Amino acid sequence: MGIELAEITNKQLNLHGRDFLSLVDYTPEEIYYLLDLAEYLKEQKKKGNVVEPLKGKTLGMIFEKSSTRTRVSFEAGVYQLGGTGIFLSSGDLQLGRGESISDTAKVLSGYLDGIMIRTFSQEGIEELAHHSTIPVINGLTDKYHPCQVLADLLTIKELKGKLKGMKMCYIGDGNNMAHSLMIGGALMGMEISIAAPEEYQPNKAITIKAEKLAKEHGGGIIVTDNVEMATDGADIIYTDVWASMGQEMEQEKRLSAFKDYQVNSTLLAMAKSDVIFMHCLPAHRGEEVSAEVIDGEHSVVFDQAENRLHAQKALMTALMGDK
Ligand code: CP
Ligand code: NVA
Repeated sequence: MGIELAEITNKQLNLHGRDFLSLVDYTPEEIYYLLDLAEYLKEQKKKGNVVEPLKGKTLGMIFEKSSTRTRVSFEAGVYQLGGTGIFLSSGDLQLGRGESISDTAKVLSGYLDGIMIRTFSQEGIEELAHHSTIPVINGLTDKYHPCQVLADLLTIKELKGKLKGMKMCYIGDGNNMAHSLMIGGALMGMEISIAAPEEYQPNKAITIKAEKLAKEHGGGIIVTDNVEMATDGADIIYTDVWASMGQEMEQEKRLSAFKDYQVNSTLLAMAKSDVIFMHCLPAHRGEEVSAEVIDGEHSVVFDQAENRLHAQKALMTALMGDK
């Protein structure tokens, strides 16, 4: 471990052994610590320096849904940190044939140093974490996508120089991305506005939680069906697919419900002139975003995608590295 890494990880703050199930469980100070660590690891990678705090450690990666970014960035990330990643498709695990979550958790805890899981239910992840003695990282559920938001906060901090006071407008489905952006943004004192048709607005309990956090940390949350109002003066415009994984059957219904919520040049013009456009990807050009916007000069979607690697390397180092 290099001297500089030791300096960063030597802060009083110690995240060793913690789970990462939702940003709700983390303080702004802890999130800033992870972002600092991510910036450090990114810089070392760009300089070609090898930093291996996870030598001899193994991450199990359980996928019950498809993935490009999450799978590849976790697997490449753990290798770069000196460790090993094992891809575990749920169809191949006994979990897929009915073995209980608690038995799986106890068995995997005996082999591995951390588990990353992408699945449907947040409660399932919580149960897995409850019965595991190693850190469990949420690689996306129907409710939250905290790893994506950690990378997004890193991207905003790099490009805008700060998080507090930034106005982010999320347009589209009140889904896992909307939930994690509301929670993460509220914790960092950002102004978050969500524009979605009434039927597709974010979960009420999560919205209330985010409002409370925003109040505590000097930010704000607005949920509306009015795109113009939500977009006005935005530093960041964010969108995501209208039909998430598992909602493919609703595709047609959703295309019509969201038709007035596309992020296109007309909409972008309502935001600040230096607005950045963000999308977690994968994207559907011509649906939630026009090709002109996602492939245009305001788009930072590939910076976000790259930052998945750096942010998750920080997360794994903090949670799975030595005390
Ligand atoms: N943004 C994201 O999580 O992408 P994948 O579904 O490809 O992992
Ligand atoms: N809301 C999307 C995010 C994909 C990264 C989904 O859950 O499919």
